[in-house]
Amino acid sequence: SRSIRLAVIPGDGIGPEVVAQGLKVLTAVLPPDVKLETREYDLGARRWHATGETLPDAELETLKEHDAILLGAIGDPTVPSGVLERGLLLKLRFAFDHYVNLRPSKLFPNTPTPLAGRPDIDFVVVREGTEGPYVGNGGSLRTGTPAEVATEVSLNTAYGVERVVRDAYARAAARPRRKLTLVHKNNVLVHAGHLWKSIFDRVGREYPEVTTNYLHVDAATIFFVTQPERFDVIVTDNLFGDILTDLAAAVTGGIGLAASGNINPAGTFPSMFEPVHGSAPDIAGTGKADPTATVLSVALLLRHLGYRAEAERVEEAVAADLAGRDASAPRTTDRTGDELAARVAG
Ligand code: IPM
Ligand code: MN
Repeated sequence: SRSIRLAVIPGDGIGPEVVAQGLKVLTAVLPPDVKLETREYDLGARRWHATGETLPDAELETLKEHDAILLGAIGDPTVPSGVLERGLLLKLRFAFDHYVNLRPSKLFPNTPTPLAGRPDIDFVVVREGTEGPYVGNGGSLRTGTPAEVATEVSLNTAYGVERVVRDAYARAAARPRRKLTLVHKNNVLVHAGHLWKSIFDRVGREYPEVTTNYLHVDAATIFFVTQPERFDVIVTDNLFGDILTDLAAAVTGGIGLAASGNINPAGTFPSMFEPVHGSAPDIAGTGKADPTATVLSVALLLRHLGYRAEAERVEEAVAADLAGRDASAPRTTDRTGDELAARVAG
């Protein structure tokens, strides 16, 4: 019989509330012969306050024994900025070599968009997840003085860029429109830009069926708003991808719907699925959080583990639920989870 060993990191703020709904839908959609074993990890602000720990090595080790990780949100105003982000979330992405940060954006029917008209938005950002300015390669001099100097050096390796570019080409080749856009800033960041562009062009020769183009990141933000339908697959570095995917979420129904997968394609380590949004401490405990982003992240998790039909059922349930939503009658987090669970089961 089949089984899924799932590590669950509810985390901070609304994290536990949305994760509970994600698990509800996952349980409802899985066929009866699939055994779901979950192990919950107490990581995040509470743990840090209690013990000073962010992610002890012993826990990192046992996390490895899982098929996947479902994470809610990390970060809390009572913890200094960066402590949990670097010590927990980024530590997981780096330790488990999540070099593909997959962030699909789709404008579902009946969801609000600030854009004029209703453009047909359906693209996926392949954000590099282990390099760039996120590596912590920097330092400060003369801290706290008027002469303070700070560096934050972006790390880009041929190995790291090539593997994520290859993944993006493979994804583009498997989609009907077969378009791939490289986003960078090679008119200013000439060194990293050259590395990305030359690898992008070289790998592209192996994919003659994929139409390619290049955009500077500033221009890309314009097109996200004026012509988002032009995008199919986008590949970009860690920081550009971070910023672009918040904008992508904003034009496709908001951050409450944006899902992500931190993927280790080889399967050497467990991949981790999480909503793009943060811990939203301002609405934690109010029941206002939309669990849909987490539920869509569960769909990505299912597809990653080979449960394709189940992933589609979850996505169809979300589409149907969104189609029937009444903006004047908001639902609680729990209620939305119940509705989605009922739809995937029925
Ligand atoms: C995200 C978040 C994280 C990131 C933060 C919390 C470290 O913004 O997942 O997009 O920058 O990657
Ligand atoms: Mn972000």
